[in-house]
Amino acid sequence: MPPWTAADIPNLAGRTVIVTGATGGIGWHTALELARRGARTVVAGRDPDKAEAAAASIRARTGPRTTVQAAPLDLADLASVRRFTARFLADHDGLDVLVNNAGVMAIPRELTADGFERQLGTNHLGHFALTGLLLSALLARPGARVVTVSSSLYASGRVDFDDLMGERNYGQLRAYNQSKLANVLFAFELQRRADAVGAALASVVVHPGVARTNLAHTGGPVRAVLLRLMRLTAQTPAEAARSSLFAATTPDIHGGEFIAPGGPGQRSGHPTRIVPDERARDTATASRLWTVSQELTGVRFTAFDRA
Ligand SMILES: NC(=O)c1ccc[n+]([C@@H]2O[C@H](COP(=O)([O-])OP(=O)(O)OC[C@H]3O[C@@H](n4cnc5c(N)ncnc54)[C@H](OP(=O)(O)O)[C@@H]3O)[C@@H](O)[C@H]2O)c1
Repeated sequence: MPPWTAADIPNLAGRTVIVTGATGGIGWHTALELARRGARTVVAGRDPDKAEAAAASIRARTGPRTTVQAAPLDLADLASVRRFTARFLADHDGLDVLVNNAGVMAIPRELTADGFERQLGTNHLGHFALTGLLLSALLARPGARVVTVSSSLYASGRVDFDDLMGERNYGQLRAYNQSKLANVLFAFELQRRADAVGAALASVVVHPGVARTNLAHTGGPVRAVLLRLMRLTAQTPAEAARSSLFAATTPDIHGGEFIAPGGPGQRSGHPTRIVPDERARDTATASRLWTVSQELTGVRFTAFDRA
């Protein structure tokens, strides 16, 4: 079979999708291709003007018959997550695909509006809350998918429950790797909890390989290393979006799968199913992280409480 490309995405007319961090990079290309195939696409971005501009630039490419809406969503502010979800639930009767894509990488230590370390707060806790608050809309569409964008660096991550927010010992990259492992643990735990109540929800985790985006434009010595690594890769953001697009749209996807580029070192290439590292399958850590994330965000996945 020829390798999968965005041209293989089926018709998505009648589907509703949300892509977080769709103002640029991999998220923008993900939203573009979903809209091109006819999905009602919500371009979620922390800066409202940037989100409007991103939605407009997608509409300019997909034509007037497509529905592409911008919506403000700052994952580093739980009040913003609640405003976004309240508005979405009021305006839509269901959600077919949620792409948890937004992320920040290797930044100096900062806090979110709720006092969380910003990488864990944005990359994991914001998406945890977003998914939980949208759960009713996802369950209203049997077969709905949650695609969570991690990184190959999850395999170097460790969830440090004794210092989750890096108060005592902060490393820019260490905090990123922890947040990206949290993405993987969350995605698999979400699938286990959906399965336990027989919910027709597929949670899929992806990593995009390496692509030249704004992600590495951070500060300090880590920035130079990351920019060098990104310059070495030939992958464009459009190519890196293929993992998310495959996970979001391929008909025969199963919840609990992990999709990544199939090229050398998984840095680039066409999307393929990969076997996750042992730490990704650590159910005790995943379950503990879930409980802690519920406590920190105040968001419960009540539809799963029957299990
Ligand atoms: N590029 C790579 O090589 C690579 C490798 C592995 C994994 N990834 C993952 O791929 C995903 C996309 O990254 P990218 O490379 O496309 O980076 P990017 O170009 O920097 O895009 C990141 C997106 O996240 C948004 N964002 C950041 N903080 C946010 C917040 N608090 N609330 C809402 N949105 C926020 C950004 O919004 P603004 O426009 O407002 O900044 C932007 O739209 C990330 O999860 C990243 O960890 C990327």
